[in-house]
Amino acid sequence: MAQSVIEALLRSKIGLDVNSIGSGAIASAISQRMADCSISQISDYLRHFQDFPQEWDALIDRVIVPETWFFREPESFALLKSYVLSEWLPKKPQCVLRVLSVPCATGEEPYSIAIALLEAGLTSAQFHIDAVDISKQCLLKAQRAIYDKYSFRGNNFDFQERYFQSINSQYHLQASVKNLVNFINGNLADANFLANQKVYNVIFCRNLLIYFDSVTREQTTHILENLLVTGGLLFVAYAEAALLMKTQLLSVRQSSAIAYRKLSKQQNFVQKSDITNKPIILPKLPELAINNKVEIAPQKQIVGNNLNTDLLDLAKTAANQGCLDEAVQLCNDYINQNQMNAEAYVLLGEVQQAMGENEQAEQYFRKAIYIQPNHEAALTHLALLKEQQGDRVSASLLWQRIYRLKR
Ligand SMILES: C[S@@+](CC[C@H](N)C(=O)[O-])C[C@H]1O[C@@H](n2cnc3c(N)ncnc32)[C@H](O)[C@@H]1O
Repeated sequence: MAQSVIEALLRSKIGLDVNSIGSGAIASAISQRMADCSISQISDYLRHFQDFPQEWDALIDRVIVPETWFFREPESFALLKSYVLSEWLPKKPQCVLRVLSVPCATGEEPYSIAIALLEAGLTSAQFHIDAVDISKQCLLKAQRAIYDKYSFRGNNFDFQERYFQSINSQYHLQASVKNLVNFINGNLADANFLANQKVYNVIFCRNLLIYFDSVTREQTTHILENLLVTGGLLFVAYAEAALLMKTQLLSVRQSSAIAYRKLSKQQNFVQKSDITNKPIILPKLPELAINNKVEIAPQKQIVGNNLNTDLLDLAKTAANQGCLDEAVQLCNDYINQNQMNAEAYVLLGEVQQAMGENEQAEQYFRKAIYIQPNHEAALTHLALLKEQQGDRVSASLLWQRIYRLKR
């Protein structure tokens, strides 16, 4: 009973969907805090809560999942560089690129952004990075900028030598990079989040939406859209792509990186009318490649051999525009002609998830994995679904499998 009161408070205060981490994880966080405060009865702990508002911070630190590392999903940073070099810089050579990283956890993400921008050739005067997290403990660690080996995963460590000094098995980030990030304590589930800030050209919001309940997720997406300049990019983790399908944002993909572009009202109108005009005119998903300018690709007609690829592109476009029934139909049409394509099953799974059909989604992710056992996006989606269902054992087996793929 007392635990459900705390769970409800966590939901209303930080938007936490308890199912995303499981009631067991909340129970263990509460017991740890009770032990820290030498309290044996949960009812006394509830009273302690009321008497000491700072207990919130301590409980939040036990509940959050601060897992992060440098250049997590490296394709996102490649896409960031492409965007900056091919689009932002040519248009705004005299301006300062404004970037937001939320949640930034212990700093690995915003520092990776800083390093990526320096590597792209920008000077420190050409960009400004704000990094926000709810956990004060995480922010303290971020500001110290001293990391151990777990903050470095994957197989490209070139940047480690250039930007860190290794002292007693710890990695100290150079002060010149450390000073490029402005850390802020904030709650993304707060309706007034960064209400007075200037808009950003780029926002990274990765690996948090999955922990939010649907109401907070919707409110947050709206807030992030408002914080983004028209034409700017919102980066999410690829397991979260399905969560933004119903928004007005347009997806931009490069390799497995996913970002969402904020369109002007007029562009939004054009995009929506494109999809209702199908199948005569087919809009193609905009794609970024290094040195390629980002733009909404010209419309194209279905012809001959391109039919299959176009159907899948059209399904993606429909999904990105929130026309979910249509996306399902197009995916099925595609799969009827092309039964061994893992991408199509992943997309179908994402769409089913966006429709709240988790059982169907799971089946499609499993099919994708059957066709392509190392399909990272399918494995990640399935792991997150298993976590949501409270099946921590299956989720952890899947995470291990994904982790092995990245090594
Ligand atoms: C898994 S980390 C993500 C870090 C980084 N974005 C990444 O993808 O590697 C999740 C972070 O979200 C933070 N967090 C949880 N709820 C939050 C909220 N309501 N507002 C801001 N940060 C929050 C946690 O403190 C934790 O550091």
